[in-house]
Amino acid sequence: MIYLDHAATTPVRPEVRAAMEPLLTDRFGNPSSVHTIGQQARALLDGARDTVARCLGARAEEIVFTSGGTEADNLALIGSFLARRAEGKHHLITVQTEHHAILESAEFLEELEAEVTLLPVDGSGRVDPEAVRAAIRPETFLVSVMAANNEIGTVAPLAEIAAVCREAEVPLHTDAVQGMGLLEMRVDAPYVDLLSLSAHKIYGPKGVGALYVRRGTPLKPILHGGSQERRRRGGTENIVGIVALARALELAVAERQTEAARQTALRDHLIVAIEGSVPGAVLNGDRVHRLPNNVNFSFPGLESDTLLLGLDLEGVCASSGSACAAGAVEPSHVIQAISENHARGISAVRLTVGHSTTEAEVDAAAEIVARVVARLRE
Ligand SMILES: Cc1ncc(COP(=O)(O)O)c(C=O)c1O
Repeated sequence: MIYLDHAATTPVRPEVRAAMEPLLTDRFGNPSSVHTIGQQARALLDGARDTVARCLGARAEEIVFTSGGTEADNLALIGSFLARRAEGKHHLITVQTEHHAILESAEFLEELEAEVTLLPVDGSGRVDPEAVRAAIRPETFLVSVMAANNEIGTVAPLAEIAAVCREAEVPLHTDAVQGMGLLEMRVDAPYVDLLSLSAHKIYGPKGVGALYVRRGTPLKPILHGGSQERRRRGGTENIVGIVALARALELAVAERQTEAARQTALRDHLIVAIEGSVPGAVLNGDRVHRLPNNVNFSFPGLESDTLLLGLDLEGVCASSGSACAAGAVEPSHVIQAISENHARGISAVRLTVGHSTTEAEVDAAAEIVARVVARLRE
């Protein structure tokens, strides 16, 4: 199989597995226990926290480990609202193309009487920093803008948005789940107050992530029941996952520049090959401000699901942004936000390269895409 779905998840890399193995056997302690076995676990947890903090340019106490990107996003939005609503700060600004972990947390906040502004994006999926400025009100408690979009790979103008937020003294959260390991992501460049990340998108295991919380940023917990994570997230820590996340992040940051350059070349090769061989293919997302690993094309006249099945039968794992709701294919909210063209919306296919992807695989995948599209069009 040619795996071109690295935005959905990545395999656990051997170095990460090696870091996890001792914890699955003899290092089983609970870091809250006072005895030696517990304190060994505490040392591992502290070490992992230091590593994650160093990778982000943060302080150790600013890292809250979570069960993944979804929980980090929920904690950022809901926790910020809970911390500020008593002051009358009940307005959230976010963007139409965010991940559902953000959009559905925002909907939940509306049930708690928050007001939500969902900013639109342009045809390439970018939000205008001036639109953020115009939307900020005295009651705004948070702006949340993803670093890079998971479907179409569009990279946000985060530095400009951060400047707007700092000027207005409104905290900025970014969902950096897709950008981590591919974009420069340190918490001072671009300057953010809260940042979500997830291990399984950077060659770590599923079910673990982190939220960076800048010192002084008001945040209430959403999981209650223990004093772990400085009372910001109750529950015995997932030490195996946390150690794995730290190792995965360390490697991702160390290799970022070479890997980003390598994947950008593969991405562009795939884009050129598909544009050259599939008449009518439309690239979704921004050509310049684009994640190094993301290719997303629409093939108007076809439907994504049929395309994905055709690709799978020929050995290519890809993904779509559309969902089949009650028998009718609906474009994803992301494609809908960048284009009103229904045929384009329901035929989007995402191909995302990764560490193991080779040029030969990309060549083969491009040929398969052309063949499957031609066959379905017949
Ligand atoms: C942009 C973005 N945010 C959040 C998530 C959720 O992360 P997790 O799967 O770790 O809950 C994902 C994963 O699909 C994502 O792509």
